[in-house]
Amino acid sequence: GATIVFGPTASPAYDVHVAKDGEELKLGNVTIKVLHTPGHTMESSTFLLKDENGKDKIVTIDAPIGSSILEIAHQHDLPLEGACEGSLACSTCHVVIDDKSYQSLKPASDEENDMLDLAFGLTKTSRLGCQIIVTEGMKNMTIKIPSQTRNL
Ligand code: FES
Repeated sequence: GATIVFGPTASPAYDVHVAKDGEELKLGNVTIKVLHTPGHTMESSTFLLKDENGKDKIVTIDAPIGSSILEIAHQHDLPLEGACEGSLACSTCHVVIDDKSYQSLKPASDEENDMLDLAFGLTKTSRLGCQIIVTEGMKNMTIKIPSQTRNL
């Protein structure tokens, strides 16, 4: 009995709610914010889910090739700081990448590793978001933003 919600670029033949970019919808305790829907399928849409406490859950993003993870996070209002705007002078763009994707990335430079050493909550698959540029082969990368970052 639930309403099916599509992004603004959808044009389904049956009766659904077609959302606008930025629109927020309530589904039980969950708030769904329609961030951007560049394509024509649900898979290419981007939604920000918040639970009943207003906490972010999962965000799925179609990442444009050539953008850094930091840039994409900023475009989608995700809480990744990036105090030095990508000049490798801070560690506030620290992200944790899923194992498989981490292995497929170009290794971090010495400069990135030096900054990463200062990151809060460093893990074996940590990287700096400003140094990871989306390339064609990247698929299904899961990126976690550590809950605390510090600006050094
Ligand atoms: Fe400062 Fe990435 S934004 S190192």
